[in-house]
Parts: sequence; structure tokens; C-alpha cells
Amino acid sequence: MNQHPATAPRPNPPRAGAAKDGARPHPRDVLALAPLLRNHLSPPSVVRSREPLAPHTTLRVGGPADLWVEPAAEDDLAQILNLCSQCHVPWMILGRGSNLVVRDGGFRGVVVRLSQPSFRTLTASGSTLRCGAGLPLPKLAAEARRLGLSGFEFFEGIPGSLGGALRMNAGAHGSRTFDRVASVRCMDRSGRIEERRTETIPVQYRACPLFADRVALAAVFLGEPAPESAIRERMAAFSRRRWASQPRQPSAGCAFKNPGALPAGRLIEELGLKGTRIGDAQVSLLHGNFIVNLGNATAAEVLSLINLIRRRAQEERGVALENEVEIVGED
Ligand code: EPU
Repeated sequence: MNQHPATAPRPNPPRAGAAKDGARPHPRDVLALAPLLRNHLSPPSVVRSREPLAPHTTLRVGGPADLWVEPAAEDDLAQILNLCSQCHVPWMILGRGSNLVVRDGGFRGVVVRLSQPSFRTLTASGSTLRCGAGLPLPKLAAEARRLGLSGFEFFEGIPGSLGGALRMNAGAHGSRTFDRVASVRCMDRSGRIEERRTETIPVQYRACPLFADRVALAAVFLGEPAPESAIRERMAAFSRRRWASQPRQPSAGCAFKNPGALPAGRLIEELGLKGTRIGDAQVSLLHGNFIVNLGNATAAEVLSLINLIRRRAQEERGVALENEVEIVGED
């Protein structure tokens, strides 16, 4: 499948591919990749320059990507990873941008989104669902309900894609993504594809280290047959609970992982930080672990607020809060 040998990978930040010696490429050098990508990728693939990223995130902050690519198929994705590797251009996969803060300077490199139909498939066989990484989670929940399969109700209000959910083992209402995963299909940074049984994949609270240097392509889930009405009721209850406790304004979901038994939201409330505002970034009045964008927030304002909360939690309670949101790009 791959015509291009990959350069050796190096340790790298999550989501992003390698750049030579960690050096940042000049935007001009990244843009020079555009014609190469257009030549190598199959026609339905999309290649765009200087794509604003804020509209592709739920928080709605951040600058542009030098290049934006939507591969049409797995072979195209392999070509992208190989070309980036050869040209020492960083890359990252963007799902539905729901757990992400893009810095105001944007991303120097290639942002890849698996949004074309071949990555959004859902096929059912008995109690088994095979889903593409680009599938939106609410769609997965709705299709499982239609098929009378329980276990996916908690996905109903998570504004992410399956790939992102696998990457961070997303969860809600006591369930986690990997609870029902039987196997995962993924691509390494040289374009090689493998299918992994769940037993061979270590997962943690809000993390699956396998995807630090691999791209999730698809997953096989095992559902539990149940009456559609019961599934519908569970989804409605989750939805009510979420809307009662979580803000409607743009946000990146929970900003911090829960540090042990004490929920970060409660800790932030106890620190008196709810409502704290820097520019148009505000700690939600409804839930302390959400930073909301009141309209024209910048990434710098959001990051200042994150730092302020972390400092106060450390100084006043001795708690080292860990970001749940991922931060990418440049100031
Ligand atoms: N709480 C407060 N003050 C607040 C917020 C929460 O006292 O401002 C209290 C609540 O009353 C409750 C406890 O803290 O007793 C936990 O709050 P909640 O039920 O809202 O759950 P959470 O631990 O804050 C987790 C996930 C959410 C998920 C919800 C619902 C994490 C970091 N967050 O939130 O996931 O939607 O449970 O199941 O694990 C996300 O990952 O982005 C996310 C939103």
C-alpha cells in the first residue's frame, strides 16, 4: 500500500506526527506539500490551504491549519502520513474538535479529518457493530437504538467522533468507550494497518496510549439486545441529566480530569472560581470543570484561565490538576 518509506518516528505530542528534530516547519514548506498531496490522493479527497480551525472545534477558538486534508480512503490516509514523514511536516488528526484547544497561531502542519463516507460507516451483524472512526457518537447511539442494541446510550450527547472517543477512552454516566469494544483497527505512522483485540490494548481513565502514535480507523463493538423503548428512555434520562448540569455555551467539555475521588468541578467550585472570567473565557457558572466561550474568547484567554485554576488548586488544596483537553498549535 505504501510507496513511500517512513522516516523513523520520534516521541511526539499526542495527535501530532513528527517533524524533523522537533523543528517547526515554515508555513511555506507545508504549503508546498499541497500539490504533492493533490497528485497522490484519490479524487474525492479534499486538500485546502490556510483552513480556519476555530469553526471545526466546539470551543471555537484558535488559528488556522497550514493544510487541511480529508482523505477519501485508508490508502489516501497512508499516503498523507508518508508524505508528511518524508517532508518532515507535523500532522494531527482532528475529530469533531470537542476536546481540543487550538492556540491562536494555528497549527503549522497538516490537519487530517476522517470525515469522508468511507470513514463514517456503521455495519451491524447480530449484536456486533462495526463503526468507522469518523462516525459521530450521537449517530452511533441513535443507530444502536434503532437496532435494539443497548450499551451505547451514553454516547448520545458527546459531541465527538468515534476516533476521538477511542483515543481518550471517552465516557459519561459511568460508562466508558472501551467497555464494549471487541477490537480496533488502526494505522501506524508508516501507514501500516493492524487489527487489535481489546485484551491487547491497555486503557486508562480518559486515555488509551495505543493512539499516541497510531490513528484509529474503526472499532468493533458488542451490544446488548434490549427493547428500543428502554434504550430510548435511558438516552432521554442521560440527556436531561446532562442539560441540567452542563453548560450550553461553546466549550471543550471538561477541562480537567477528575483528580481521584474529588470531582474537578466540585474542587473548582470550592475554590470560589465559578464565574471567573478572563476576556470572553469564563469558568461556567453551571459546572466548574467547563470553560465556556462567551462569544469572542481567544485561546490565550482560555489557557490563562486553565493556568489560573491549576495554580489555585495546587496552592490552596495541594491538588495537581491534569488537563483533559488537548492543546495544540502555536501562540
Ligand atoms: N459538582 C459540583 N460543582 C460543580 C460541578 C460538579 O459540586 O460545579 C459535583 C456534582 O454535584 C457531582 C460531582 O461534582 O456531585 C460530579 O459532577 P458530575 O456528575 O457533573 O460529573 P463530573 O465528574 O464533573 C464526569 C465527566 C463528564 C461526564 C459526566 C457525566 C470527567 C472529567 N468528566 O463529569 O465528561 O459528562 O461525568 O457522566 O470525567 C468530558 O469528559 O468532557 C465530560 C464532560
